[in-house]
Amino acid sequence: SPLHDFLQGLPKCEHHVHLEGCLTPHLIFQLADRNGIALPDPAANPEYASVEALTARYDRFTSLDDFLHFYFEGMAVLRKQNDFADLAWSYFQQAHADGVHHAEVFFDPQVHESRGVPYETIVAGFSEGCRRAERELGLTTRLILCFVRHLPVSSGKAIYEQFISHGHFEAGVIHGLGWSSTEVGPPKDMFRELYASAAQKKIPLTAHAGEEGDPSYIHAALELGARRIDHGIRLVEDPELMQRVARDGVLLTVCPLSNVRLRCVPSVEQVPVRRFLEAGVKFSINSDDPAYFGGYILDNYCAVQEAFQLSVLEWRIIAEDSVQESWIEDSRKAELL
Ligand code: ADE
Ligand code: ZN
Repeated sequence: SPLHDFLQGLPKCEHHVHLEGCLTPHLIFQLADRNGIALPDPAANPEYASVEALTARYDRFTSLDDFLHFYFEGMAVLRKQNDFADLAWSYFQQAHADGVHHAEVFFDPQVHESRGVPYETIVAGFSEGCRRAERELGLTTRLILCFVRHLPVSSGKAIYEQFISHGHFEAGVIHGLGWSSTEVGPPKDMFRELYASAAQKKIPLTAHAGEEGDPSYIHAALELGARRIDHGIRLVEDPELMQRVARDGVLLTVCPLSNVRLRCVPSVEQVPVRRFLEAGVKFSINSDDPAYFGGYILDNYCAVQEAFQLSVLEWRIIAEDSVQESWIEDSRKAELL
């Protein structure tokens, strides 16, 4: 797009990217080999015949759950601390090239632990990647632990207890909590108890809501204490709730290319970017699972620009809100503005 160089140079903050969603088909095959892990048999699963075949399958996701099947299958190649560290590092290098100065990144420990990888290994690897990005690239980073909605609450509770007993919030290793995975189906308030406990400890909370699910999922997330909403695009269907979100300054972390790939909207033009701007709803633009959705953060910025032809002033508002709503100290915000 004509503003490509401007968008690249704009100091960006990313708030919605799953580190496991940065696992490219190339890296899946490489780590499967390195760790001696058998991928699904290509005789029964032709998409696993090659890197190219797997990449081509990613063009045809039919829903969030169809994507999640591949996302959870792919991450099974992650076993050792350095697998997690390498994955995080590969993301931060790309983010840096895209002009990201601050990144808040999700990870799904329950899913790895259910495969026998200890919580300590996962956290040590991902935070090693974060520290390297801070040291070598000058990025600031925040790790956000996500609970997943497709596993029992008891599994989320077990992870939460490890997070608490390690003192990972107080130590600044993990800065916040979120929830993700299947939206429609499991109870909207399944993490009520965990979020109440975390809120009492002043741990920043976010939640995936209003991606496939209707606005009542957003309402439930806010009621449980989320101060940020991941996706949230269906907020436009509830004008009253939208007014409240605007008034309270709740940030939506919007992921346009993800929404198209997962068929939440037919095209980027239907992501309610213009309506959020007009309603004064704060949002940031993010990549979600860049290895699966065909683009990192700058591709998402460019896709929004192609669809909406925003002005330089509008871009400055988006970039400024992204800084102001980041979970960082005021002194770091001042550096980024
Ligand atoms: N986990 C990874 N990407 C996700 C998405 N787009 N929605 C819900 N859970 C996810
Ligand atoms: Zn997400």
